[in-house]
Amino acid sequence: MARVDVHSAKGSFRTPIVLASGPAGFGCDLARALDFRRIGALTTKTITHEPREGNPQPRIVDAPCGALNSIGLENPGVARFRSEVMPKIRALPTARIVSIAGRSADEVGKVAGALEGEPGVDWLELNLSCPNVRGETVADRPDAVSEYVRAVRAASSRPLLAKLSAGGGLVALADAALRAGADGLTLVNAVRGLRIDVETGKALLARATGGLCGPAILPIALAAVYEARRAFPEAFLVGTGGVVTARDAVEMLCAGANLVGVGFGVMADPAAVFGLAEGLERWLDARGVADVAEVVGAAHRGGWRVP
Ligand SMILES: Cc1cc2nc3c(=O)[nH]c(=O)nc-3n(C[C@H](O)[C@H](O)[C@H](O)COP(=O)(O)O)c2cc1C
Repeated sequence: MARVDVHSAKGSFRTPIVLASGPAGFGCDLARALDFRRIGALTTKTITHEPREGNPQPRIVDAPCGALNSIGLENPGVARFRSEVMPKIRALPTARIVSIAGRSADEVGKVAGALEGEPGVDWLELNLSCPNVRGETVADRPDAVSEYVRAVRAASSRPLLAKLSAGGGLVALADAALRAGADGLTLVNAVRGLRIDVETGKALLARATGGLCGPAILPIALAAVYEARRAFPEAFLVGTGGVVTARDAVEMLCAGANLVGVGFGVMADPAAVFGLAEGLERWLDARGVADVAEVVGAAHRGGWRVP
């Protein structure tokens, strides 16, 4: 069988398939039926300092080849996350990436600091790109990205991923995050979108716009990962957006991702997501590829078959 384990300077993952922040919640419901050893890491729903209720309903609607969501960072706050959620997810046989966000650099620093002594927090992921909350989409300004990443870096010794959205200026934002101390990047968050009920003429989501996820955004996420890999040949990259099949995951790896995040797929068919690593192994075996690392970034080298 081909090797699918992934190793970075900051940590190892049993498989390249990770559950993206949000759709898997805290993984507890999935853990009743599915084997987390098939997953490289669980990324938690984003945690803020204080609890948040999120946006009003309706906050999720269908979209062609995906869904549009406007959940708005609903979460129990970092204190309850530590006392109620961590004891459960610490037991899962996978790595844990805890996603954090805040309205200021000071807040994200506080959240990271509160998690510093917490066993089982393997990585932090700083969500700099939620399309569904006002005042927190800081990822369109490199100076703000630097400030937030520095605040987390000062408060935490954990390996840190900075999560950015697709779009213009990605390389400058990624550069700001990496220079400020991020150990890697997660690309991409959901892409801003809108749907309208033609019988009423009103937006379908209570907050009008939301984040588009699912196969509709796969080419957008692939381009972001490709662009980041070209600019930062050594960076650790989590490619997220539109992956639902093992074939999609291979594409994401070839674009330059070290790990592949899956969000929408978890809502559509969680069992299929937990089978993706096996599908990847089969894909590699069928082509005589001994190690998944051989396909990572292949699109930058003229293809994985090139000696
Ligand atoms: C219902 C839902 C909730 C989400 N919540 C979060 C979140 O709390 N934090 C975050 O960083 N991303 C969140 N995301 C974005 C996903 O992590 C992911 O970046 C995006 O959906 C693209 O991947 P996908 O096409 O595989 O879903 C959410 C996505 C969905 C669909």
